[in-house]
Amino acid sequence: MAIEESPVLFPKWMNAVPTVAAMAAAGGAVTTVGAVWYYFTPKFWEVGYMPEQPGAGFNHQIHAGQLGIDCRYCHTHVEKSPEANIPSVATCYGCHAENHLNSALPAEQKVQFVRDAYHEDRSIEWRRIHKLPDYVRNFPHHVHIKAGVSCYSCHGQILGMPVVFQSQPLSMGWCLACHADPEPHLVPPEKVTQLVWVEQEMNTRRRGGSTVDTATLLEAIHRAPPDECGACHH
Ligand code: HEC
Ligand code: HEC
Ligand code: HEC
Ligand code: HEC
Ligand code: HEC
Repeated sequence: MAIEESPVLFPKWMNAVPTVAAMAAAGGAVTTVGAVWYYFTPKFWEVGYMPEQPGAGFNHQIHAGQLGIDCRYCHTHVEKSPEANIPSVATCYGCHAENHLNSALPAEQKVQFVRDAYHEDRSIEWRRIHKLPDYVRNFPHHVHIKAGVSCYSCHGQILGMPVVFQSQPLSMGWCLACHADPEPHLVPPEKVTQLVWVEQEMNTRRRGGSTVDTATLLEAIHRAPPDECGACHH
């Protein structure tokens, strides 16, 4: 995985953010925290952040939407580890090797950057879109997936995105709002990557219905989602 750690993505001043423990001791209440984190949230964490990607980029609408490739074909660790990995060039080259796909397709010129990277044995420098500040502990993807929280709830309708953008605030208030009442967000764990199904289900719930028994899904979660500071901060 290649993430470009440019000063724009990871501003230096972040090192100066006092430890969460110190701020909590000084402020005491969560309301103080709220006022502080508003001012500290840089532009790139805001909803809509969409950096320019290398080459012709990568189109989720084509690959995951039209071609129907499951998220886990590329994001192979997402169910097993805290981090969701970005696939290596070899995964792309598996389909985009010379003459593998019909070379009359217009897409052929667009994938040349994938082949170049593969032949030069280097990774593609994808720009990272979703990034929590360093003072937030290892965000656990696998725990959420196993509990039946869909990619849709946190990343939006990826199947409709030619270019991925951040669709949710990823703020502390946003995490805690779901933790306080996760039931409306739960889907059967085998459905978490079926984003068309999940979107339809969430629309049904907005109208007061549901096609699954969410109370049973809630009972199946082994622990209540945490609200104590130490669960998410050092
Ligand atoms: C479920 C996870 C979670 C819990 C529990 C949690 N936080 Fe946070 N906290 C976050 C996230 C995520 C951010 C980053 C928000 C952002 O980038 O806008 C954050 C940010 C902060 C910040 C930084 C504000 C800033 O602008 O620099 C402070 C201070 C903080 N939390 C204190 C606390 C305290 C005190 C508690 C316990 C009462 C707590 N947090 C509980 C997830 C959590
Ligand atoms: C064929 C491979 C492939 C498939 C299938 C795929 N992705 Fe991706 N995904 C990528 C690549 C490459 C990137 C990095 C480039 C980018 O951000 O567009 C990425 C980036 C992302 C990001 C943004 C990561 C960041 O930087 O914050 C999210 C979120 C994401 N994918 C979710 C999904 C979901 C959800 C699915 C299934 C519906 C899916 N992906 C299916 C290859 C894939
Ligand atoms: C399972 C096979 C498969 C995998 C894996 C795959 N692709 Fe594709 N990709 C395709 C097909 C098929 C098309 C042609 C779609 C069309 O022309 O309608 C395509 C089209 C493209 C295009 C041109 C689309 C456009 O913007 O018009 C690019 C660029 C591309 N892929 C990049 C990648 C990258 C980067 C990866 C790895 C992260 C990747 N692909 C992985 C099958 C795959
Ligand atoms: C509960 C919310 C939540 C769910 C569910 C979720 N994600 Fe994420 N995702 C995040 C957050 C938060 C980040 C940023 C994590 C960080 O900075 O440590 C992230 C980051 C990512 C990244 C970027 C990783 C990197 O190293 O660049 C990818 C890719 C991704 N998610 C894919 C997925 C896929 C695929 C699914 C569904 C199978 C999924 N996520 C489900 C919240 C979620
Ligand atoms: C849409 C709902 C939802 C959102 C949004 C969400 N979570 Fe969670 N989270 C859950 C659920 C449900 C669980 C309980 C999973 C279990 O223990 O089975 C959980 C559990 C956790 C745990 C405990 C992991 C463990 O090992 O027990 C951590 C830490 C956590 N979430 C962090 C975060 C952070 C940080 C964010 C925001 C960036 C976030 N969550 C956003 C639903 C959510």
